[in-house]
Amino acid sequence: MSAGTRGATAPPAKRPAVTLSKLAEKKALGEPIVMVTAYDYPSAQVAEAAGVDVVLVGDSGAMTVLGYPSTVPVSLEEMLMLAAAARRGLTTPLLVGDMPFGSYEVSDEQAVASAQRFVKEAGCDAVKLERGGSSADRARAIVRAGIPVMGHVGLTPQTATALGGYRSQGRTAERALEVTRDALALEEAGCFAIVFEAVPSELTESVVPRLEVPVIGIGAGPHTDGQVLVFHDLLGIYDGHAARFVKRYAEVRRAMIDGVSAFADDVRERRYPEPDHGYTMAPDEAARLRTLLADP
Ligand code: KIV
Repeated sequence: MSAGTRGATAPPAKRPAVTLSKLAEKKALGEPIVMVTAYDYPSAQVAEAAGVDVVLVGDSGAMTVLGYPSTVPVSLEEMLMLAAAARRGLTTPLLVGDMPFGSYEVSDEQAVASAQRFVKEAGCDAVKLERGGSSADRARAIVRAGIPVMGHVGLTPQTATALGGYRSQGRTAERALEVTRDALALEEAGCFAIVFEAVPSELTESVVPRLEVPVIGIGAGPHTDGQVLVFHDLLGIYDGHAARFVKRYAEVRRAMIDGVSAFADDVRERRYPEPDHGYTMAPDEAARLRTLLADP
């Protein structure tokens, strides 16, 4: 085999698995962290092949793949099934399971038990929970139980009603201070990273340098240590409302509709299947079959 052909057939170089210390190192070096959501085996395989750092099995999957009207109804069992499927498609990125509404708020014991299920049953490396306040206590309990936790402040969709709807947060100095206090409390509780969602970039610019842990932004401007987008938003698969911060990098839904429509047309016009798509019998076997059928 020549050097040229070896290059063409060699498998891609194996990347080392992304660890918590790798993420901290990226923040220290000023290297942006890339996170996407994924909810099943094929989307996780795509995230793996694209070389992202972190995959979040977000509770946004409630809307993007399960068809619920918000993230609130999704159950722990449903999230565990999505996370386990994503795990099977991943080897390199850090895998974070999103704890659904109702799976961690009641007590430290409930939070630790739910987090353990993400690790034991779905193979997640870490979990994410929303809000500061009592969630910082829950985060501390989970970290003490040996499970890494990612925090989430700003617009926290699980409690969007209490926040006045799906709207940006921290646009007054007082409210920005509350978001800042939530982030500092989550860091103090031991979170290894914090998502800032739908907050002004002035807030992020002032607060990120005060945090030692990486901040991953979604609608939080350019001053974060990394960015996350929802898989179905960035690829144009989800046709529901898209927030202002969504940038579409592909129109996959259009391509899927075109593909299925072309299949339907081919079937209806008898253009599919073609001879190459089928199996054949040896002529003598076909002749024997006809004889057997004539006299069954
Ligand atoms: O559920 C989710 O997808 C999320 C991201 C938006 C961070 O929480």
